[in-house]
Amino acid sequence: MYKKLFIPGPTHVRDEILKAQAAPMIGHRAKEYSELQAEVTAKLQEMLYTRQRVYLFASSSTGVMEGTIRQASLKKMLCTVSGAFSKRWYEIVEANGIPCDKLAVPPGQATTVELIDEALSKDDYDAITLTMNETSTGIMNPVEDIAAMIHKKYPEVLILVDAVSCMAGVKIEFDAWGLDVCLAGVQKCFALPPGLTVCAVSDRARERGKTIPNRGYYFAWDAMDEKYEKSQTPATPAISLIQALNVQMDSILAEGLENRWARHIAMANYVRGWARKNFKLYGDERYLSNTVTNVENNRGVSVADLNKELGKRGAMISNGYGDLKEKCFRIAHMGDLTMDDLKWLTAQIDDILGS
Ligand SMILES: Cc1ncc(COP(=O)(O)O)c(C=O)c1O
Repeated sequence: MYKKLFIPGPTHVRDEILKAQAAPMIGHRAKEYSELQAEVTAKLQEMLYTRQRVYLFASSSTGVMEGTIRQASLKKMLCTVSGAFSKRWYEIVEANGIPCDKLAVPPGQATTVELIDEALSKDDYDAITLTMNETSTGIMNPVEDIAAMIHKKYPEVLILVDAVSCMAGVKIEFDAWGLDVCLAGVQKCFALPPGLTVCAVSDRARERGKTIPNRGYYFAWDAMDEKYEKSQTPATPAISLIQALNVQMDSILAEGLENRWARHIAMANYVRGWARKNFKLYGDERYLSNTVTNVENNRGVSVADLNKELGKRGAMISNGYGDLKEKCFRIAHMGDLTMDDLKWLTAQIDDILGS
């Protein structure tokens, strides 16, 4: 039986999108492909409120994270760490031998403007990694406010944002906030199958990239630019996923961007209300995620057993991440899920647990 996914990626994919992937193949140097990429790019720019470049990479997000940090810094980077996925940025930077410092907060906390200001004042940094929505803890970092502070006080610092589990679910104004990179794989709030990453890059980051020796090959922005004007990519793109993304972007724009952001906030509020009544919310309540709720298992129920029972009823949630396994469970409310889906899910959980 199909289990509807309430996990923070991959998320439930509608039949219409699954079918869009099965459209006949086209050549990636053909006019039809260029038209497809041009169309999708314009729709993504509208969703990200940007006039700057949006690239499509045939890769999961981790690959694009690595490509990003290889072409962003000539001095030193600051890596903010507030959970497993922000730690991944740090590990990637270290693995590439790029000078960096780590600014870590305890799990469940956000990386605040004040902490970042203090850290950036201590050395000569020229880039920072941020994770907008820390999927492992269910905390959203205040990227807009952080970016505003950085532009005022540290104008040389490029702002690199992993928006993997919130892009297409929450409002991200790429140009107005002054972000330099904002990336996300499509298997979360876009509600597509995995394998494609959307990545907006500012003009100033592209200029910086060109000055960096050994910036890599596959993800290099200047290499992408050689084909960008023709609405193509240097290597073979994930054509089927881009065809599906084009259909999904039409749905997203037809829903209305403001409506989409509001739907995600309403679903988050609903799940939080349910969690407060039945369990407890994990982490700093001022920074809770609008796309995934991390519920503290203060009743000591077996999350594994709960998920097994949910599976028999056609649903799947996520256990706590890493050390939080069985201590927490996560309910994602992203992509094409609706309030009715969440009401159904919480009713099933109540019924299974007899609450
Ligand atoms: C916030 C965040 N960043 C990065 C990743 C890594 O994405 P992928 O495994 O698709 O490369 C994930 C995956 O869940 C994530 O949630």
